[in-house]
Amino acid sequence: MILVFGSLNIDLVALVPVIPGPGRTVLAPSYQTHFGGKGANQAVAAARLAGSGLVRMAGRVGRDGFGDSAIENLRANDVDTDLVVRADEPTGCAFITVDHAGENAITVASGANMTASVGDLPARFSPDTVLVLQMEVPFAEALEAARRTTSASGTVVWNLAPVPEEMTRDMVTELLAVTDYLLVNEHEALDAAAAIGLAPSGYEAAAAELAEAGNLTCIVTAGAQGALAVTANGIRLRAPAPRITPADTTGAGDTFVGAFAAMLSEGVSLQRALEVSCEAAALKCLKAGAQTGMPKRDAIGSLA
Ligand code: RIB
Repeated sequence: MILVFGSLNIDLVALVPVIPGPGRTVLAPSYQTHFGGKGANQAVAAARLAGSGLVRMAGRVGRDGFGDSAIENLRANDVDTDLVVRADEPTGCAFITVDHAGENAITVASGANMTASVGDLPARFSPDTVLVLQMEVPFAEALEAARRTTSASGTVVWNLAPVPEEMTRDMVTELLAVTDYLLVNEHEALDAAAAIGLAPSGYEAAAAELAEAGNLTCIVTAGAQGALAVTANGIRLRAPAPRITPADTTGAGDTFVGAFAAMLSEGVSLQRALEVSCEAAALKCLKAGAQTGMPKRDAIGSLA
């Protein structure tokens, strides 16, 4: 069973000629509304590959129309929503600008996500639980969920995204201690390493140092350069990214994480998990919106 504890958002997306810097305004012809939130995105990505009844989402939405839609969307994607709780705060909302190259800038109004509690999760976990975490719900709650999973001999997958503005040494040390698979992009790898006093020369070195520091497997997604995994004992594996012209990279990292969790729960090799996750993330980028392009099982292999 894959249990995702994380955020549910509604994404308001504007296609812009250029992503505005501070003090700038740009005009977009319109906007689109998509389902998002790193937690919900990862749950949907996992469910599209893992199949019905294998993915559960825990998190919080508001008592509003956005919350209704976010829950309905998960159900429509075969994600169990029994652990999604209604909060007094509004449903999380992300304001996203996407430019012609498919690159984005995102501001998240967290709302109900920041009331998510480990108390919403089952009291006991089982050894076959694959817990998937990110950084859009309170860190202390996610950490406690990870500790409970580890105590039950389950598996913890932690996607260190987005990196908080103030990420302390203690936070990263505690996170590494309870994580089996740390999933980061190049920048997050370097930020995490710096937070615990390391000064790696690049993201590959950062992955190796984080893997050793946490006795875990560190996986770095590097966009068009594919993905790299470094195990605790220093084994390095790589998977290429299929060559595509992206329409929208929003949710590509989430697709990778969800696909990786699905592959882990199936027990495939680490190499195969990397390859499938890279292809899933590339397929996602062919369509606008975080979840629209996330592939189902039968699409895997189509870009090979
Ligand atoms: O990773 C992409 C996601 O980040 C978006 O869907 C948005 O909701 C933010 O959480």
